Amino acid sequence: MIKILKLSIVIIYYRFKFAILLNYKLKQIKMKRTILGLDVEKNTETVKKLNILLSNFQVYYQSLRGLHWNIKGKSFFELHVKFEEYYTDSQEKIDLIAERILTLQGVPLHTFSDYTSRAVVPIGKDITQDVEAVKLISNTLSKLLELEREVLMLSDDGNDEGTNSMMSDFITEQEKTIWMLKSWLS
Ligand SMILES: [Fe+2]
Repeated sequence: MIKILKLSIVIIYYRFKFAILLNYKLKQIKMKRTILGLDVEKNTETVKKLNILLSNFQVYYQSLRGLHWNIKGKSFFELHVKFEEYYTDSQEKIDLIAERILTLQGVPLHTFSDYTSRAVVPIGKDITQDVEAVKLISNTLSKLLELEREVLMLSDDGNDEGTNSMMSDFITEQEKTIWMLKSWLS
């Protein structure tokens, strides 16, 4: 009888201990979610990568301004307008990326030193010739595609559908632009 009583006490003790541990673990899991319900660690990695993409878009934007201003030759009228179209588009994308970072509770980088230190895209300087200008844009877009796919891999892993769809839209659009630039070059 005493043995059964002792065994019951031990069982009750461990069940109680297990319940406390389970409750603690559940709280821990809940704490590791962002306000959007995303995994905190994965969200941090996505934000970090989005800031790298933002930095490179800013460098691309500045290259496009330079091309718009400095382009010379027989294609001037056509390319001057086209480059304005591209920098206006990249300006919109820059804003979308920065606001996505804020939506994910991150802080978008906003200084030139932050941007240049993270730049992996080619930098266009003193380019005046049409072919060189179009090649620069095409090569930059290829590099941006790589970065966007890296963001996509992270956001996909973190079930971050908002960032996924943004990256998918960017990728689809830029792939088409690269095709058109290559057609112009051929
Ligand atoms: Fe202008």
